[in-house]
Amino acid sequence: MTETAKVGILGSGDVARTLGSGLAGRGHPVLLGSRDPAKLESWRASTKGSVAVGRLAEAASFGPIVILATHGAGTISAIDLAGVAHFSGKLVLDVTNPLDFSRGMPPTLFVGTTTSLGEMVQHHLPAARVVKCFNTMGHQRMVDPAFAEGHPPMLICGNDPHAKHEVEALVRELGWPGVLDVGDIDAARWMEALVPLWVRIGARLGTFDHMLAPIR
Ligand SMILES: NC(=O)c1ccc[n+]([C@@H]2O[C@H](COP(=O)([O-])OP(=O)(O)OC[C@H]3O[C@@H](n4cnc5c(N)ncnc54)[C@H](OP(=O)(O)O)[C@@H]3O)[C@@H](O)[C@H]2O)c1
Repeated sequence: MTETAKVGILGSGDVARTLGSGLAGRGHPVLLGSRDPAKLESWRASTKGSVAVGRLAEAASFGPIVILATHGAGTISAIDLAGVAHFSGKLVLDVTNPLDFSRGMPPTLFVGTTTSLGEMVQHHLPAARVVKCFNTMGHQRMVDPAFAEGHPPMLICGNDPHAKHEVEALVRELGWPGVLDVGDIDAARWMEALVPLWVRIGARLGTFDHMLAPIR
């Protein structure tokens, strides 16, 4: 299904643009959705492939795959604006992180460690198949990843085994060697908890193009 499936992306930031360009380059029709689609016009005009921009509801209803690439604290609100019914039965890739910058850098998590934004999204979209993915790295290397110190698998989690197979096919298309499935959607607590550490490491390295992944 994922080979040239239409992909709607909620978001207008670096993640949405990077994944949108990458998937369009692999032949997927892509639509990026924003509360203010005009801001995406230059991205649309400069991106090769079948790309479109629109409102959040247009992105959520565009195809069988929806990517959530919205600011963590605005994610549930973005889903509501898009319309919960539009997500029914769909594969939802959740790239979001529940980062709390209210006390400055480095961020903490606004979910604590007894739930996660991934679980909140799945709870809010019970008829969707949510897979957490791409959240433990910077947008710079999400497509055609090249790391000096190896070629790590993509960490994912979610409740639906078939959805996770579909995500594996999708990330392979983008140049990844495969996935490391770390469990049901409750594992998002720990995938998301890696991100404040990822930020601290980036601040120390002076670059945010690294990824947190296992090596053996
Ligand atoms: N940047 C990275 O390298 C990276 C890597 C991994 C994961 N992530 C995670 O991926 C997500 C996207 O990151 P990003 O850096 O691309 O963008 P971002 O700046 O974190 O978020 C921008 C998007 O959030 C939407 N948004 C913000 N508040 C909203 C609200 N109240 N209601 C609806 N939409 C709202 C904006 O919508 P409008 O267009 O309508 O303004 C915009 O599309 C975040 O959760 C981030 O933590 C980021």
